[in-house]
Amino acid sequence: MFLRQLQLQKFRNYTQQTVTFDGAKTIVLGANAQGKSNLLEAIQLLASLKSFRVYRDRDLVQWGQTGGEIIGSCEKRYSPVELSVKLYANQRRTLVVNGVVVKKKDEFLGNLNAVLFSTLDLELIRGSPEYRRDWLDGVLVQLEPIYINLHQAYQQVLRQRNALLKGIRLGKIPYDREQMELWNTQLVTIGSKIILRRRRLIDRLQPLAQKWHQLISTSENLCLTYLTRFPCNDNIPAIQAAFSDHLQLRSVAEQQQGTSLVGPHRDDVQWQINNQLAKEYGSQGQQRTLVLALKLAELELIEQVIGEPPLLLLDDVLAELDLQRQRALLEAVQSSTQTIITTTHLDGFAGQWLDSAQVLTIVAGKLQ
Ligand SMILES: Nc1ncnc2c1ncn2[C@@H]1O[C@H](COP(=O)(O)OP(=O)(O)O)[C@@H](O)[C@H]1O
Ligand SMILES: [Mg+2]
Repeated sequence: MFLRQLQLQKFRNYTQQTVTFDGAKTIVLGANAQGKSNLLEAIQLLASLKSFRVYRDRDLVQWGQTGGEIIGSCEKRYSPVELSVKLYANQRRTLVVNGVVVKKKDEFLGNLNAVLFSTLDLELIRGSPEYRRDWLDGVLVQLEPIYINLHQAYQQVLRQRNALLKGIRLGKIPYDREQMELWNTQLVTIGSKIILRRRRLIDRLQPLAQKWHQLISTSENLCLTYLTRFPCNDNIPAIQAAFSDHLQLRSVAEQQQGTSLVGPHRDDVQWQINNQLAKEYGSQGQQRTLVLALKLAELELIEQVIGEPPLLLLDDVLAELDLQRQRALLEAVQSSTQTIITTTHLDGFAGQWLDSAQVLTIVAGKLQ
């Protein structure tokens, strides 16, 4: 797939800007705080409906404005598609596909796929489990947009169950076993589907990440493991049974703490390099290598499933990689894969990139 044109209106520090991409490789050049990451953020939003930096739309809308818009014109193998996200400081977004407003996220998602790699991704190794869960969920949404519905349904059940547990803890709501069991059933039913999908995703990413990791780092061995609070086999009945049992086990603790302690919202992913935890053992360079391998695995898997390469968005990371890793990236990324790279300077880039790339210079939210 190819993003031909991007229009930004009152988005971050862009008042009104059209960006046309000529070829598969684009370098976005600019000093700090000019709007390079904002540009990638806008593209990532069209692909995932999430910003990689903030949660609230009001942070995305230009300061002092009530609303803004991102419009993307994409070329896909079978048909072109025009996507628009209208963002507001004080109301819900509007999503538009080919001129038609769509009500559900799953109708919008899947039209554009993108893999973003930024310096924040080191949190995948060092950060809290939430980063790793969010990454898995983000990949799943790209592979299968209806996953978003499962995710939203789980969040809703979790919120309500947590409110109930909190009420019980504060003595405002009496404990009612039957009521709790109804919530448990919902949590287990939806949660088990999420766990199964995430585990299968890890199984699919494992060989790809391992391959890329070995290519970049030569002999090291990489192992990805999905961690649940309870051991169980890899099928729905087994997960449901173990999940339910564990809920019973933790029932008193949940009432005391007033929150849900078991389920996919508490799961994690573990990365091991040569049987050691990457979090504890990895140097900054090794952790970067690992993140790169994970992102390349993501790229390859999405391409396998979708049948077209997603966009690759590299925010300030390429020049940070040494030439060997840059070359690995070049090999990984087919020449046809649209790649948009931001950087503050062009030195440090392998010659192949510079020869084939369109260079766009950004100053204070304007293309020069
Ligand atoms: N909602 C907003 N409205 C206007 N400007 C914003 C908004 N959010 C961020 N900015 C500005 O955008 C700039 C940062 O852009 P960014 O893309 O992160 O820079 P960089 O080029 O370093 O990647 C800063 O100058 C910041 O003040
Ligand atoms: Mg930036």
